[in-house]
Amino acid sequence: MLKIKLLLTATVAALLVGCCNNEKSSSNAVSFDDVIASRRSVRSYDSTKTISEAQVRELLTSAQQAPSWANQQPTKYYVAQSAAMIDSVKNYIGGNRRNVEGAPILIVSTFERGKSGFFNGNPANDLGDLWGAYDNGLANCYLILKARAMGFDTLIMGMRDSDALRRLFSIPENEAVTAVISLGYRSGEPRVPQHKNLDDIVKFF
Ligand SMILES: Cc1cc2nc3c(=O)[nH]c(=O)nc-3n(C[C@H](O)[C@H](O)[C@H](O)COP(=O)(O)O)c2cc1C
Repeated sequence: MLKIKLLLTATVAALLVGCCNNEKSSSNAVSFDDVIASRRSVRSYDSTKTISEAQVRELLTSAQQAPSWANQQPTKYYVAQSAAMIDSVKNYIGGNRRNVEGAPILIVSTFERGKSGFFNGNPANDLGDLWGAYDNGLANCYLILKARAMGFDTLIMGMRDSDALRRLFSIPENEAVTAVISLGYRSGEPRVPQHKNLDDIVKFF
């Protein structure tokens, strides 16, 4: 009888420890809705904080999980992490330069032309290479949401000099340069923009 009592006590104790451990790990987790709600375009960065190559690799590994046309995965990344390369990229983003001051990483994103939306080298339909841009946007969406989940902030920048960036990173001609994305830690709280009413963008049938 004593043996059974001891066994029961041990089982309950083990279950309680398991339960508390789970609670501990889930209390550290950020909900997906929190990631969405707190992700904003950040134009002011804390220059005292750094981001390691291992962290950038984790981020881009998540971006790679995005869906793409026939799994073509046309998106590529060129990461400026040295002070010299970051300074060079800043020369090619016009007025965005002041938005990314203090950001420890700048990422140039491209997509390979003629992959997504193509069969045997021919456009599969009316959108052609726009499907490559579509896939690139999806991958970059994963990137910015994963960044937020890791406690980082981002700014996607379409205002950039694609020719100069192509030369700087030796980006091949068959890749279209899309956005430069800053990665860092926010300094201060970003503005939350207004959004359209849902009924202005959706029709149910
Ligand atoms: C494709 C694309 C290009 C953008 N280019 C710039 C840019 O060059 N400079 C900038 O400050 N913001 C840029 N933005 C950020 C948008 O202005 C921002 O996403 C929008 O105002 C909504 O704000 P939020 O991201 O904080 O929700 C860009 C966003 C996207 C998706």
